[in-house]
Amino acid sequence: MSIRIISDPAVVQAKAREWKAAGETIGIVPTMGFLHDGHRSLITRAVEQNDHVIVSVFVNPIQFGPNEDLDKYPRDLDADAAMCEAEGADIVFHPEPSDMYGEYFSTHVEVDDITSVLCGASRPGHFRGVTTVCNKLFNISKADRAYFGEKDAQQLAVIRRMVRDLNMDLEIVGCPIVREEDGLARSSRNKYLNPEERKAAVILSKSLNKGKALLDSGERSAQALIDTITAELKTEPMSDIEYVSVVDSITLKDVEGDITAPVLVAIAVRIGSTRLIDNFSYEV
Ligand code: PAJ
Repeated sequence: MSIRIISDPAVVQAKAREWKAAGETIGIVPTMGFLHDGHRSLITRAVEQNDHVIVSVFVNPIQFGPNEDLDKYPRDLDADAAMCEAEGADIVFHPEPSDMYGEYFSTHVEVDDITSVLCGASRPGHFRGVTTVCNKLFNISKADRAYFGEKDAQQLAVIRRMVRDLNMDLEIVGCPIVREEDGLARSSRNKYLNPEERKAAVILSKSLNKGKALLDSGERSAQALIDTITAELKTEPMSDIEYVSVVDSITLKDVEGDITAPVLVAIAVRIGSTRLIDNFSYEV
């Protein structure tokens, strides 16, 4: 079957209704397009685990702040559709903003607390936009499972919290970070980096590896970990640190003193004008 590109939410929902009536399972992979191997790994997993897979390609305007990159966000629908087809997905759902946010749109879904830290601190309203669109995507696709990357660890935690808090009837599947050969986490935003910045960007994964090695050597102080990662990041003159944080994996609250429970070690760093994020999870 060749891939179908559908923009109308009602058409996707009708198809999903048919599939459900036939007792078939559905996986959704929410994306903003310009798909790379990170996205591909989510689609592959979804195809393995479900009878049908819908990949949404939608640059969601309500999760971008006024000074963010909504207008210049990279797009390539043909290449995206080709990847989805090659991986065996059934539908690319590619709505226009007006298909998703029609006249009088006024309902949002907001997760408290864990959305105001880490990336939420510098991106007010971002996660409200993400949870709202994901809610819509889950309802439109009638998915049994939805696939998210650990690359956006806070996003994954926020989505899991929303699904639990609101008793949403689907499983959230987290997938490991896919990296370039030199360690840089794959991201659609890597396209913004010029060659010099691209080289400098390796410092994110390098600094996290130093942090991981410190934990492996037995260090348990959250501050020592932060200091080591920060020092490594600072060896790269082009890096401009937004945050280096060690937080509890569930509450996303800063760890005070020693690490005694599973943590998320997360960083956000600007290289030139491009904001990059990376992280790892660690269980002591
Ligand atoms: P986007 O940035 O396109 O990412 C879509 C999904 O791909 C997310 O779950 C993200 O974590 C995952 N992903 C991106 N890079 C990855 C990598 N290197 N390894 C593994 N997974 C990776 O995240 C969004 O879009 C949006 O916020 C969205 C959830 C679609 C809501 O609009």
